[in-house]
Amino acid sequence: MTTTVSRSMPQARAISMPPLGLGTFRLKGQTVIDAIKSGLSLGYRHIDTAQIYGNEAEVGQAIAESGVPRAGLFVTTKIWTEQLAGDRLIPSLRESLAKLRMAAVDLTLIHWPSPGGAVPLKETLDALIEAKRLGLTRAIGLSNFTVAQMREAIDLVGVDELATNQVEIHPFLQNRRVVDFAKGQDLPLTAYMPLAYGKVMTEPVLLDIAARHGTTPAQVSLAWLLQRGFAVIPSSTKPSNQAANLTATALRLSDEDMTRIAALDRGERLADPDFAPDWD
Ligand SMILES: NC(=O)c1ccc[n+]([C@@H]2O[C@H](COP(=O)([O-])OP(=O)(O)OC[C@H]3O[C@@H](n4cnc5c(N)ncnc54)[C@H](OP(=O)(O)O)[C@@H]3O)[C@@H](O)[C@H]2O)c1
Repeated sequence: MTTTVSRSMPQARAISMPPLGLGTFRLKGQTVIDAIKSGLSLGYRHIDTAQIYGNEAEVGQAIAESGVPRAGLFVTTKIWTEQLAGDRLIPSLRESLAKLRMAAVDLTLIHWPSPGGAVPLKETLDALIEAKRLGLTRAIGLSNFTVAQMREAIDLVGVDELATNQVEIHPFLQNRRVVDFAKGQDLPLTAYMPLAYGKVMTEPVLLDIAARHGTTPAQVSLAWLLQRGFAVIPSSTKPSNQAANLTATALRLSDEDMTRIAALDRGERLADPDFAPDWD
């Protein structure tokens, strides 16, 4: 399934990101090769990697060996914090592309806002726009940006230049300020750790909703996010879980289900390194 990321929009935002992608954080070596190959054979067409994951070469190998044409895939990578300076970003993206065995990625994200503001955001965004002009990436975007940082990015380059802000969202961290601001600005969000790294599987309300629909809390969590208009990038090493997660696009939750899940927010943030920004 492919949908356009946003509604009427100028060329900058005219990319098609499949709303359900496959994450690769923590997956290395043969594990990530097997996970990508299995995901692609099941029908995933959106892969999320990052320089810091140390798996771009294996992701590239798996894609190359899968036989799936590059043109039918949406591949995202993320620039690590040490490569955000104007003179480092493009060389580092070229290294990522060599590892990924592709001439361009579909989306390049700033993985985290520059810690302590060491590199001015304008410098990084200018380098990303230049990377796009050079044909190294089809689109650019943000990750882990707060409301203030999203506002700064939008002020610098305009919202239509930004394909997404990829942030942690799941039933236990609903990130409402970020969600409300992004919605108001028409900036698409991508929900990472959409299964709270597996924690959703034992939550009683999610188990109850899942039982009513004859499904699992993983699909319920993904459907809840998709129904709210976010892209989702769950990771799984198991073909059966990968296949189950794909079916979330067909699951329709009721208004009552959505309200019950909304009540599960407990501000439980799982990705919170010491260089993280001041969260909203
Ligand atoms: N931008 C950022 O800073 C950032 C930060 C974190 C993550 N991410 C991205 O988001 C992706 C997803 O996050 P994540 O991998 O940390 O966590 P996640 O997708 O929320 O959870 C993955 C865990 O859930 C399990 N799982 C998956 N599907 C399942 C199912 N149907 N039933 C039961 N268990 C299931 C997986 O185990 P099995 O392998 O056994 O299936 C794995 O342990 C990452 O891979 C990465 O690409 C981005």
